[in-house]
Amino acid sequence: MSKQIWMGTNWKMNMSPDSAKVWAEHVGKYAKAHQGVLNLFVMPPFPLIPLLQTELKGSAVLVGAQNCHWEESGPFTGETSAQLLAQTNVDMVLLGHAERRAQFNESDEIIHRKLQAVVNHGMRAVLCIGEDKSVKGNQTATEKLLRQQLETAVHHLQPSYSQQIIVAYEPVWAIGNQGVEPRNEDIKSNLQFIKDVANDILENDVPVIYGGSVTSENCRDLMTLPSIDGLFVGRHALDGKTFVKIMGLAVSEGVESI
Ligand code: PGA
Repeated sequence: MSKQIWMGTNWKMNMSPDSAKVWAEHVGKYAKAHQGVLNLFVMPPFPLIPLLQTELKGSAVLVGAQNCHWEESGPFTGETSAQLLAQTNVDMVLLGHAERRAQFNESDEIIHRKLQAVVNHGMRAVLCIGEDKSVKGNQTATEKLLRQQLETAVHHLQPSYSQQIIVAYEPVWAIGNQGVEPRNEDIKSNLQFIKDVANDILENDVPVIYGGSVTSENCRDLMTLPSIDGLFVGRHALDGKTFVKIMGLAVSEGVESI
């Protein structure tokens, strides 16, 4: 049985209507030609969601949001509910990204509430977990933290919802322009640990993807890791052509290594 490969991107607070259109043209074409080979998703800023839903129609590329609120509606100025995202055909929601944890004080408990709302409304949740620099290299402390992030986010989740979860392992020290390269030897055992814990708690084969400074240079190597189910790309996917290149290299490696 061949494994499903996931390739996704989070645009963060980047891109414009014009650049989104150009991106969708490149990536949509690639996605149409590779349907069934990989599962592709994009998470733009909120106002670009309808544009991408239109531009990517028929390509099977899933369009997601970068955040949501757990309540259905109410006095939460500036927030968007999971309910409204589902009503506007959003496929998935990103939760627990390191930037939201650090800059917006999102705790594991808050992420749990959001996750529950997302799956209740029939969407997929892409749950980010990852250790920061302070525990890098300390296997015991790293595993404790990863387990805690994962367990708190999914506690009391009904087993039937586990098919809607994708876990993104994103070590904080590897995200963005920090000058640190993700090396397979630094992430291999953490990915395996996450896969084992996720499958155990959620009683399902949960996809685990890797994110943090993925490039066209390192994507093939990363895809050789036995427990990886795909890649989550940030700044190097903002150019649609580069993202297509990364997918081409990564998917050929992923398929060959099955
Ligand atoms: P990066 O971002 O690829 O730019 O490091 C990854 C992420 O934050 O998901």
